[in-house]
Amino acid sequence: VKRLLETIERVLPEGGDWCTLHKAQTLAALVVGLRPRTVVEIGVWMGGSLVPMLLALQHVGNHDAVAVAIDPWSPAASVDGETGANLEWWSTVDHDAAFRAFCARLDKHTLRSYCRIERASSNDVMPPSPIDVIHIDGNHRAQALRDVARFCPQVRVGGIAVLDDVDWEGGHVNEGVEQAKRLGFVAMYPLDRGLVMQRRGAIG
Ligand SMILES: C[S@@+](CC[C@H](N)C(=O)[O-])C[C@H]1O[C@@H](n2cnc3c(N)ncnc32)[C@H](O)[C@@H]1O
Repeated sequence: VKRLLETIERVLPEGGDWCTLHKAQTLAALVVGLRPRTVVEIGVWMGGSLVPMLLALQHVGNHDAVAVAIDPWSPAASVDGETGANLEWWSTVDHDAAFRAFCARLDKHTLRSYCRIERASSNDVMPPSPIDVIHIDGNHRAQALRDVARFCPQVRVGGIAVLDDVDWEGGHVNEGVEQAKRLGFVAMYPLDRGLVMQRRGAIG
């Protein structure tokens, strides 16, 4: 595991700066501990958080395991509901280049066999079932609540949902936390500006 954590530290800068080293290593540790068969990430960008989880899947070496990478890599989806500086930034940044960078990283680290890419809005992807670990880091506006409502019911009891940026403007991610609680999730610990939740009961 020490080598895995060192590798994650070394490759982290390739994936941009959305994901801190602390978060990357915590997500990887969850994967090592839970030995998930199905990981889902909504909002992949250049794989800042997903590549660490993929490296952890590779480390565990279960060849049946898959991480579903859901992201349309499209400005239209990114700006949906956004205002001000976020609207400005997401409408001009090169989403195709981010997609290509993510794919290049999969090849560089021989992670393709663990990853299924769904280049589509989370809204248009049928949630896999059961999900063992999900990281929800896509659009943080109304879509974030829809993501919790659609994907979290498929998380198995004992499974983990990590919600990013719970205090995002608009309050939708926070509503997502409340929605997850109604589905039987409990808050375990904060992770940077996000929250790690575990499903303790299958309500809903
Ligand atoms: C902050 S970035 C994700 C950062 C990434 N998790 C990391 O740690 O490097 C947000 C991502 O959400 C994606 N996104 C926006 N709308 C989405 C939607 N409807 N479904 C899935 N992903 C979406 C964007 O294309 C962008 O890649």
